[in-house]
Amino acid sequence: MSEVRSLGYVIISSGDLDAWETFACDLLGLQVAEKTPDRLRLRNDEKIYRLEVVRGEAEGVTVLGWEVQGKEALEDLVTRLETNGYEVTRDSTEAARERGVTEMVSFTDPEGMRVELFYGQMVDKNKFISPTGANFLTGDGGLGHVFHLVHQEEPIRHLYLDILGFKLSDYIDFGPIYGTFTHCNPRHHSYAFAPVPGVPSGIGHIMFEVDDIDIVGRAYDKVLKENAAPLAMSLGRHSNDQMLSFYVNSPSGFQIEYGTGAITIDDETWVPKRYDVPGFWGHERQMPV
Ligand SMILES: [Fe+2]
Repeated sequence: MSEVRSLGYVIISSGDLDAWETFACDLLGLQVAEKTPDRLRLRNDEKIYRLEVVRGEAEGVTVLGWEVQGKEALEDLVTRLETNGYEVTRDSTEAARERGVTEMVSFTDPEGMRVELFYGQMVDKNKFISPTGANFLTGDGGLGHVFHLVHQEEPIRHLYLDILGFKLSDYIDFGPIYGTFTHCNPRHHSYAFAPVPGVPSGIGHIMFEVDDIDIVGRAYDKVLKENAAPLAMSLGRHSNDQMLSFYVNSPSGFQIEYGTGAITIDDETWVPKRYDVPGFWGHERQMPV
């Protein structure tokens, strides 16, 4: 079975690119790759960008870009998607070049999110230099993970686990609902989802992982002492991926999880688990989802 390899890029719509630049660079330690009046591209490793903020009226994540192994994997995934009733668009060479990838297809997930599958992401010839000295854990694990707040759980489960070939990591009970965490590489989860009635469907948070607890601590200080961003959840240790992290609201309203120290998993030996709490300690919610 062909598999998606990692989360390659995320595209965001926002009306305030300046706020995104300050937030992403000064707090998270991302580097500006390109800034025009209409878009802001941000790096966290050697790839030409990992986040793209496009000027728009809506606020939130509009595209998830998943990297696949190559052309053969892309064709297999297109066949599987079409067999399961998805309408897949083969994006033009120009559109792929604009994204900074070699070839790309796209479709809409059951929640209305645009999903792009691609291979051959461009590497920047210039070294990544974080303005805060952060070193991000990416590589095989992609840019990080996303947590999708959905209305209909089963179609999303079918898409990611049965069609795209993600593997189950574990479940966490959040009171009456539970979250499902899935992986496609050694990162404990690249894609998680939970049915959350009463809130708009969309990406609830994007997680970035760094290799140094002091980078997380200094960013936490900027939030607590300099109001760099509204704190959404206090510092804490997650139960399932054991990430030490905190959450802030991004300029677009959805959250960013910023952490370190998560476990990686090996498909040969991994057994899915279930937890009755999302964290061992901390992660006190400071505001509603
Ligand atoms: Fe997370």
